[in-house]
Amino acid sequence: MNRKYTIILLAICLNMAYITGCNSKSVDAYKQPPNTFSITGSVREMNLYPDAPPAFPEHEGKAEFMSYCGICHSLKYISSQPDFPAKTWDAEVTKMIAKYHAPIDSVNAKKIAAYLVAVKGKK
Ligand code: HEC
Repeated sequence: MNRKYTIILLAICLNMAYITGCNSKSVDAYKQPPNTFSITGSVREMNLYPDAPPAFPEHEGKAEFMSYCGICHSLKYISSQPDFPAKTWDAEVTKMIAKYHAPIDSVNAKKIAAYLVAVKGKK
């Protein structure tokens, strides 16, 4: 009786090993991009998902643009847009303020819109 029980238990174990072994094949498919972790002095740096900010051309209004337009989202929201006419950029800046409450006063909003027209304006 005891021996029969042991054999059944062994069969169950082998079955489990077989099932889990088969699944391990697909693990590679879920690999993340290589992450880096480094310790410099006492500071720990983690670069999990490298996200280099897009480069924007130098022009008047760049400082205002860089400090306000990246508060809530990546500057890629702007760099990935096509070139727009002035009225579209004006509307876009206004929308960020009116709809999403971007804390930008009217002087800076004008500078930013002018910057966007200069560097990503549709000629
Ligand atoms: C207070 C937060 C906030 C600030 C500051 C902000 N945005 Fe946005 N922006 C948003 C939100 C929210 C969305 C919509 C996000 C989404 O749909 O995924 C958005 C989306 C956008 C888009 C995508 C197109 C669209 O209209 O949805 C552009 C372009 C954009 N923002 C430009 C700007 C510019 C230029 C500035 C600087 C003047 C700016 N944003 C500042 C919150 C902000």
